Amino acid sequence: MERLILSAALGCAMAIMSSAPATVLAAPASNVAWTGEMRQLVASGDSARGQQLAAGCASCHGAQGVSEIPDYPHLAGQLAAYTYKQLRDYQDNTRAPSMMGALVATLSDQDMADLAAWYASLPLPPPTGAIGEAQAQAVTLVLQGDGKRLLPPCASCHGAHGEGALVDVPALAGQSAPYLKATMHAYRTGQRANDIYARMRSMAQMLSDEEISALARYYANLAP
Ligand code: HEC
Ligand code: HEC
Repeated sequence: MERLILSAALGCAMAIMSSAPATVLAAPASNVAWTGEMRQLVASGDSARGQQLAAGCASCHGAQGVSEIPDYPHLAGQLAAYTYKQLRDYQDNTRAPSMMGALVATLSDQDMADLAAWYASLPLPPPTGAIGEAQAQAVTLVLQGDGKRLLPPCASCHGAHGEGALVDVPALAGQSAPYLKATMHAYRTGQRANDIYARMRSMAQMLSDEEISALARYYANLAP
């Protein structure tokens, strides 16, 4: 009898132990949740104050949010909620550590909302070049997706002109091609995993290298 109880207890403990790692792994992609309070904070962003704070960002992202370093992202014209979310994600390491981590460590929530408001007040970066024929493949993926792979059109989320959409779907128009390519590869490998519901990771996994390059060039050359 005693042995029976013991083995039942052991079985139970084993079941708990084997389910424990799964619970630990299920950490959220991001700690930003779009509650009313969070939306209000982003909406309260003071772009004049943000502009002052952005002096520390200009060496890499440009004084007007257009980076002169080819691999670094432009921030001009980006949706405030998206920029705010990325800064929060860098701060708590839900977005893969990069040189951004140390730069955001001391920013308050209000600082991040102010910075986001400043960049959102600027026009989107100008397109890098014309959309050439080589990008036909990208055009189909952007506007139609691919039913065979259950791949939705990029434009259904990112907007017909790559202008982004509420709440946190980023604008892509005029973004740096090398940056777009690198970040799509990072979603594909899971190195970047801060997209809520794995919306981008699941899609990037279905894209080939060639498609990622074509899409990066397409968006870099797209006029908003
Ligand atoms: C030393 C160079 C450097 C400085 C200074 C810098 N950044 Fe960055 N920033 C980067 C790089 C490189 C990336 C891309 C990193 C990655 O792939 O995650 C980046 C990414 C970002 C992103 C994500 C863009 C996107 O499209 O997802 C935001 C937002 C951002 N930086 C804001 C800022 C702000 C605000 C400041 C000032 C407080 C700042 N950065 C200062 C280099 C810099
Ligand atoms: C279901 C909606 C949805 C679809 C469809 C979608 N995206 Fe996204 N995408 C998002 C969201 C949401 C984010 C921001 C995730 C985060 O917070 O990191 C994002 C982020 C991105 C980024 C990162 C931008 C930056 O500045 O770092 C790129 C690049 C991107 N998407 C490209 C694409 C391409 C190319 C397609 C089509 C093959 C596509 N997306 C289809 C929702 C979508």
